[in-house]
Amino acid sequence: MSQLQRHIPVMLNESIDAMNIVSNGSYIDATFGFGGHSEQILRNLDKDGKLNAIDKDRDAINLLNPEIFTDERFSLKHGCFSDLGKFSKEWGVYGSVNGILFDLGVSSHHLDEPARGFSFNKKGMVDMRFDQTSGISACDWIKDVDEQTLSNIIWKFGEERYSRRIAKSIIYQREQTTITDTEQLSKIIDKAVPRNEKHKHNATRTFQAIRIFINKELEVLKDALHNSYNILAPKGRLVLITYHSLEDRVIKDFLSVTDENLSTPRGLPIKSEFLKKMFNVVAKSIKPSSDEIKINPRSRSAKLNILEKVNEDYD
Ligand SMILES: C[S@@+](CC[C@H](N)C(=O)[O-])C[C@H]1O[C@@H](n2cnc3c(N)ncnc32)[C@H](O)[C@@H]1O
Repeated sequence: MSQLQRHIPVMLNESIDAMNIVSNGSYIDATFGFGGHSEQILRNLDKDGKLNAIDKDRDAINLLNPEIFTDERFSLKHGCFSDLGKFSKEWGVYGSVNGILFDLGVSSHHLDEPARGFSFNKKGMVDMRFDQTSGISACDWIKDVDEQTLSNIIWKFGEERYSRRIAKSIIYQREQTTITDTEQLSKIIDKAVPRNEKHKHNATRTFQAIRIFINKELEVLKDALHNSYNILAPKGRLVLITYHSLEDRVIKDFLSVTDENLSTPRGLPIKSEFLKKMFNVVAKSIKPSSDEIKINPRSRSAKLNILEKVNEDYD
């Protein structure tokens, strides 16, 4: 079975409806993955529409469905969505994009492919990088990290109450033998956790924490959200599928900051009653249907958020 056949896009109809697609508009898929959402966006565009996409993972580009690749309305770059401003300028769409989709986190490919090291129940090297062409693998990071830092990361990005015990145990085991594979790591974590949680492997939170840290997931999301205002056309939409509360927190903080800053050319003496919010929340925290969760259990933690740009561009 090919990667494309195996991948089921999450909240596909809901997210495409949320994009409010104009057939000759310009769109960005900021997390191309295996192109499930991109294919559907292209189906909604006419010959004048345009879809640009990026993904941090080279596999997403190397295993690309040739049908999409030959579509003249489509282009795909390898990169991080925190650089969307730069990419939009290269594509010639800066300031005129009608919608940007973020389907955050890992793809099925990441979890299913042992060699990527994301999954605690598939034996492979603990890598966890979306972009294997740069940065440090989780395995190399674990070799040198100090106990306090490790414990803080597990607490901050995994919200793991046993972060201290787990960190202590990882550091102790690291002194006995090099920790390189996911099976070793998940066993160490499992032993360090005193109480089992129902329906959740004891290594879930720690693996999530290490992955978020290694890929700087929250920092790049924050940057991308802030850059999006100038990339979008007026009324352009940001459609975000999130998978955990830390991502939701970044969106919430972004909205509170943009509400405070308001959309106005800096330094102009405009009375506050004429200032507008930068983004309206069209809808938030929409959950997948129970039917979707039955077919694709990985969608169960998904939440769809829709924001719309309120005002004209400024710089
Ligand atoms: C949930 S999958 C997307 C699946 C896709 N919507 C589909 O239907 O095939 C998330 C994808 O985003 C990519 N990704 C994660 N963080 C990224 C970032 N900062 N910049 C670009 N791509 C990123 C991952 O490599 C992964 O392929």
